[in-house]
Amino acid sequence: MTHRNTLHLGSDPSSLATAGRILAEGGLVSFPTETVYGLGADATNGRAVAGIYEAKGRPRFNPLIAHLASFELARGQGVFSPAAERLARAFWPGPLTLVVPKAPTCTVSEIATAGLDSVALRVPDHPVAHAVLEAVGRPVAAPSANRSGHVSATTAAHVAADLDGRIDAIVDGGATQVGVESTILSCLGDRVAMLRPGGLSRDMIEDVLGLALAEGPEGAGDEPVAPGMLASHYAPRAHVRLDAEEAGPDEAWLGFGPGGGGGQPHVAANLSPNGDLTEAAANLFGMLRLLDRADIHAIAVAPIPGEGLGEAIRDRLARAAAER
Ligand code: TXA
Ligand code: MG
Repeated sequence: MTHRNTLHLGSDPSSLATAGRILAEGGLVSFPTETVYGLGADATNGRAVAGIYEAKGRPRFNPLIAHLASFELARGQGVFSPAAERLARAFWPGPLTLVVPKAPTCTVSEIATAGLDSVALRVPDHPVAHAVLEAVGRPVAAPSANRSGHVSATTAAHVAADLDGRIDAIVDGGATQVGVESTILSCLGDRVAMLRPGGLSRDMIEDVLGLALAEGPEGAGDEPVAPGMLASHYAPRAHVRLDAEEAGPDEAWLGFGPGGGGGQPHVAANLSPNGDLTEAAANLFGMLRLLDRADIHAIAVAPIPGEGLGEAIRDRLARAAAER
């Protein structure tokens, strides 16, 4: 892994122009989206995209999301079924990724799609992300800006902790609003299937579609359809213990809602004292990083309800708790 001097940029117009130039020249730039910080590279440049896998230590079979400044630009990359188009018009820009068949005009590198004949597309809802995408003028491949398998980054400081010296620049646009990654839907056939719960809740999607989402991937044969969704992921160093009633002596406590003293924990945080799932999602990754201290054996997490954004929170926590 070659060392890179990481430029720390603000989000003023000249910094954003610099970020756009570095990306256009094949560099690696982290920038905020409304969900989490992304680690961007020019998606049409295979060499640049290969740098993302190297910087993150990410397995090559795990494809990347291509980010675009508008739905009109996304149309040039993928084939939108009527349902996919309805979803794009309802929720873009926003925390939704659509997996669609590659268009004949698709310019996204084979390395970014990991050789699949589909492509994952997203139009993020963040002024900094939008400005960076406009400045590059090409699709930008961007996974979450963390070392592979680690907790995602929701601030520029989290990105620096994981990737300083491995990427070319970090654009600081403050803490991200949503806090969990985008919801990923597969729109490859007639059905729409949920590949990953995320920042857009299932009920909002089903309202627009007028029907229930199918579960999991469709018609994929043996292909790893959302390979990033397998096994342990989003993991802090400490173990994670779910649906806990209280913390043990060498455990941290991660609460949700009022009360729940959590025993006598070394250290404690609360995702949302009011029991608000939107607030909890925004706090999730930052609090996992905060509680992941050397003197902590495990993080005991209070029960989280499964509705709305709770589905994505529970999904991330289950992966953080999975055997490694
Ligand atoms: O909110 C987000 O989605 C963030 C921000 C930066 O946009 N990005 C993000 O990317 O979470 P990443 O790489 O951490 O997760 C992308 C997921 C992976 O699970 C990958 O397997 C899946 O998308 N994916 C990408 N292309 C796919 C495809 N063609 N078919 C199925 N799954 C795909
Ligand atoms: Mg990720």
